[in-house]
Amino acid sequence: MKVKIKISNIKAIDMLKFKKLGEEREKAIETSYTDKVVYSYPINELAKVLHPKSMKVMVTNIIKETNDTKTIVFKRLNNEPFPPFRAGQYVVLDAKIKGVSYKRSYSISSSPKNLDQISITVRAVRDGIVSNYLVKELTLNTDMVLEGPFGTFTYNSLRDKKQILALVGGSGITPIMSLARAIYDKVENCDLTILYGEKTYADILFKDELDKICRECENVRVKYILSDEKSSIYDTGYISKEQISEYELGSYSYFVCGPVHFYHHLDKIFQELDIPNKYIRHDIYKECEVGLHHNKYTLTVLTDNKEIDIPCYEDEPILKALENASIKAPSKCLVGVCGFCRSKLIKGKVKTDYTYVRGSDINNDYLHPCVSYPLSDVTIKLCK
Ligand code: FES
Repeated sequence: MKVKIKISNIKAIDMLKFKKLGEEREKAIETSYTDKVVYSYPINELAKVLHPKSMKVMVTNIIKETNDTKTIVFKRLNNEPFPPFRAGQYVVLDAKIKGVSYKRSYSISSSPKNLDQISITVRAVRDGIVSNYLVKELTLNTDMVLEGPFGTFTYNSLRDKKQILALVGGSGITPIMSLARAIYDKVENCDLTILYGEKTYADILFKDELDKICRECENVRVKYILSDEKSSIYDTGYISKEQISEYELGSYSYFVCGPVHFYHHLDKIFQELDIPNKYIRHDIYKECEVGLHHNKYTLTVLTDNKEIDIPCYEDEPILKALENASIKAPSKCLVGVCGFCRSKLIKGKVKTDYTYVRGSDINNDYLHPCVSYPLSDVTIKLCK
C-alpha cells in the first residue's frame, strides 16, 4: 500500500531539523577531540633534517685539476653529514662576491658514498664572475651556503637501460664522474661507457682517476676525443654519429652533459639515428654570456608592494640584472629547466630561449629570467 506524504509535511520536518542543527553542532563541538592539532609529525621533522633548505658549509680542500679548473670540497659547519644524493644531482651555491650575492648551480662531482663531504668541480669561463672567483680567489676555510641536492639527471633502473652511454662535453664530465665513482663504490648498479670530448689533452679532467676506475671496474669505460688537438692516441674532432653508432642502438640510454651548443649538436645526431627521446637524458650548463651591452633597458620589478627600476641589457639574462641589483630572485638550474625562477611578465617584450621552458609557462605569460633577455623596457612580478 502506498503512503502519500504531503509536501508541506516534508518541509516542516526539514525546518525542524534545520532548527536543531545549531544545538547538535554545539554538542558535537563539546564532545569532540580536544588534543592540539598536530602540524608536524616525526616524519616531517626527519625530512627537515635530511633535506635542509640550505646548509652552512666550509671549504676544506681546493684541488687543482687543470689550469682553469678546480675541485672544491665542502663540509657542513654543524658537522652533520650532507643529505643523501644520487650521482648526477647538483647543488646551488650562494657566493658573496664584493657584497653581491650570486647563486650558481654546480653538479656534484664526488661519490654519494661519503656524505661527510661533498665536492663540486668548477671551470673558470671567460667573464664568468662566479666561476673565476671560485677558481682564482676562493681560499680554504671560507664559509658559504649550499642548497640542494637537486636534479633528476640520475640513473633510474625502471626508466633507463642498464647500459648508459654518457656523451660529455668539457666540464660536463662532473656529474658523470660522480656516477663513475658511485659505480666503483657499488652505490649505483649500471654499466657506464663515457665518450668524453675535450679541447686538448691538457684539459681532460680526472684522467688518472677515470683510467684507474676503468682498469679496476669492468662496468666503467672511457674514450677521450679531442676537438682542438691532433693526436695519434685519441680520436679527434667532435663526438660524431659514427662514434655513437659503434654502440648497439636500442641497447643504451644516452646521458648528455655539456654546454647548450653541444646538446644541439647531439640532438641532430639522435634524430638522424632515430633514437627515441625516452632514452635520452640531458644535463645542460650554460657558459657565461659575454655582454657587449649595446641596448640598455629599464627593468621594473614588482615585489612585496615595492616597485624597483634597475638597468638591464639586451645581451644579459634578466636574472643577471636582478643579481647585479642585489634583488633576491629564486633560481636553481639557470638553464630554464627547473621552473624555479618563474616570474610573471607584466609589460614589455623579451626574447626567451624556449628550448627547455614548459609550454604552459609560455602560454600564460610566465618567463624564466635565467633564459630571458629584454627587447624593450620590461616589467615583471617576481613569484615566490
Ligand atoms: S633557474 Fe631553473 S628555470 Fe630558471
